[in-house]
Amino acid sequence: MNQQNSGAPARRRWRAAAVAGVVVAMTATTAVLWQGTSSAASTLGASAAERGRYFGTAIAGGRLNDSQYTTIANREFNMISAENEMKLDATEPNQNQFTFSAGDRIANWAISNGKRLRGHTLAWHSQQPAWMQRMEGSSLRQAMLNHVTRVATYYRGKIYAWDVVNEAFADGSSGARRDSNLQRTGNDWIEAAFRAARTADPNAKLCYNDYNTDNWSHAKTQAVYRMVQDFKSRGVPIDCVGFQAHFNSGNPVPSNYHTTLQNFAALGVDVQITELDIEGSGSSQAEQYRGVVQACQSVARCTGITVWGVRDSDSWRASGTPLLFNGNGQKKAAYDAVLAQLNTGQPLPSQSPGGPSPSPSTPSGGGCTATYSEGQKWGDRFNGQVTVTGSADWIVTVTVSAPQRMIATWNVGASWDSSGNVMTGRPNGGGNTFGFTIQHGGNWAWPALTCRTA
Ligand code: G3I
Repeated sequence: MNQQNSGAPARRRWRAAAVAGVVVAMTATTAVLWQGTSSAASTLGASAAERGRYFGTAIAGGRLNDSQYTTIANREFNMISAENEMKLDATEPNQNQFTFSAGDRIANWAISNGKRLRGHTLAWHSQQPAWMQRMEGSSLRQAMLNHVTRVATYYRGKIYAWDVVNEAFADGSSGARRDSNLQRTGNDWIEAAFRAARTADPNAKLCYNDYNTDNWSHAKTQAVYRMVQDFKSRGVPIDCVGFQAHFNSGNPVPSNYHTTLQNFAALGVDVQITELDIEGSGSSQAEQYRGVVQACQSVARCTGITVWGVRDSDSWRASGTPLLFNGNGQKKAAYDAVLAQLNTGQPLPSQSPGGPSPSPSTPSGGGCTATYSEGQKWGDRFNGQVTVTGSADWIVTVTVSAPQRMIATWNVGASWDSSGNVMTGRPNGGGNTFGFTIQHGGNWAWPALTCRTA
């Protein structure tokens, strides 16, 4: 199934910011643009969503008991990555023994708060469990594919995009693949991982994710570009490229950043900024952040930005104070710059669901009735809820219409047909009401329902 363009109509409505370089001084023009829009949202997630994008953060499971942390994260962000809890060492600590409790804690927090999930990450040379670090050759290849399949299958229906393969290219001028035990299983390991992920979760966008790929003229950027170009030409299932975007004074935001994003997008993939952090402080840091947002806004297929943590003190490099909130949870100048820049984008026209009202599935012959009700709506997606009456042992199908995609479900045992358009739901102990999120791609029609008893 092709799900690449589901968000494109909405994204095309974005004003493409004309940028010659991304790191430019904040000018009066910026302020005028901001005031000139009809909507100046007050949080990062709301502003991005009103304009068809997302703004996310990485969540560390160990901090979910910190109310300042969860308050900020819940208020500001609408896409969540698990900072470490869905990685290989976390999910398969012993071979073929999978543990999802830490990942689920973050996934459940995200979904119950109406947020989407980026999956990070299925195949990576780093943070491998010890048993995998010791493996080589065909047994490692099989173990890697098994890992991809099992983890992507487990989270099927909950993940907007997976970082299928992470950091597979070498730094420096070689343009070569990074040497690793995975690379030594054969050069086709990356495409094998993508194919396994597509089979396991046909509805998730599948991304290649890396760092030091921001500057268009760098050899590593060019090498990743050639791989994506090759994958697209041969039909390898890749939907998106993630740019980690870890910046500091030695590796500043490049002035050609929008060129990089645009050139990758022109290959027919979405691009996403996946782990943004910028070391520094004050107006210099703020301007670099603003430039990154502006670069994403200037590319229609740049679907969202994720910062790698909430407060500076939560960062993997806390001493560089690289995030949008300080250690006391207060907004920094960088936050104000990001929000102001997000608010310069053209809001989507107000939209309401169209299409026919769904008639509840008729009980005749089926033995049960499924009734749809609307949930929350955002610029790019909406929630729906189904209540079943007449039987506690029901099988409900929910059919969405292209370009819609169902990207999350709750309170239901869900499986999908091969097209990915038809979700079959069965009770999973959560009662007779279940819900889901549909990424609408401009089609606000309600899904069609059927209900029968098992
Ligand atoms: O939880 C243990 C703790 O029990 C133990 O006492 C302590 C001692 O070292 O380690 C703790 O685990 C650390 C873990 O973060 C949780 O804090 C690991 O040592 C540490 O290596 C791990 O670092 C993570 C790093 O990936 C590992 O590669 C960072 O949190 C995480 O932010 C970082 O994220 C990566 C992305 O996945 C990929 N791109 C780069 C990015 C930054 O390095």
